[in-house]
Amino acid sequence: MAKKGIFISLEGPDGAGKTTQLQLIAQKAAQLGIETVCTREPGGTAVSDAIREVLLDPRYGEITPLTEVFLYAAARAQLYSEIIAPALLDGKLVLCDRFIDSSLAYQVYGGGVDWDFVLNINLKAVQERLPDRTFILDLPPDVGFSRRAGVAADRIEQKSSNFHSRVRQGFLEISRRFPERIVVINGEQDADEVFRNIWDGIAHLL
Ligand SMILES: Nc1ncnc2c1ncn2[C@@H]1O[C@H](COP(=O)(O)OP(=O)(O)O)[C@@H](O)[C@H]1O
Ligand SMILES: [Mg+2]
Repeated sequence: MAKKGIFISLEGPDGAGKTTQLQLIAQKAAQLGIETVCTREPGGTAVSDAIREVLLDPRYGEITPLTEVFLYAAARAQLYSEIIAPALLDGKLVLCDRFIDSSLAYQVYGGGVDWDFVLNINLKAVQERLPDRTFILDLPPDVGFSRRAGVAADRIEQKSSNFHSRVRQGFLEISRRFPERIVVINGEQDADEVFRNIWDGIAHLL
């Protein structure tokens, strides 16, 4: 029987600190000699990166929420089978910057697509393998935006503040629907403090 790896995802809006925390987790894991694979969504494979470009480029204008559901799910299916599943089979620690919960937050709560539909198509895309632990970095949308001052807004970031408020509430609602898997962390704290919270939630899994 193959060794089983540990799968962790980080969620939250742009500017929440996902990339920062992913690097901190990877550093700590490296110090402990744990083999780690870091990836991000949408993207992580050649096909998924091509889909990412379509999704984020403001040049394409409005993409319907349903089209977004399919594109994200397609990118995710490829990432899962090409990168995540083999790494888990190898017993590695997999760290993913956004995963299935972003589709639920943005396309269901932000875009108004049906919960069951989005969940089911994504469960299919990832062969039912949800992360072992998910950290949602929660903070007001304005705080995330101001941290990214100077970075050009992508197509998703350009949506209305009402949209971003629904996404935030969506993430919190999702955490209530998956209480065993998801931990919500106050993303407004110092990065070191956020990391301590995260490490408290994963040390026992490793
Ligand atoms: N806890 C924090 N407090 C203040 N600034 C932070 C914190 N975490 C990250 N940052 C800074 O905010 C910006 C966005 O962080 P990043 O990790 O790229 O967020 P995300 O990947 O969620 O978009 C970066 O400039 C980063 O250095
Ligand atoms: Mg990031």
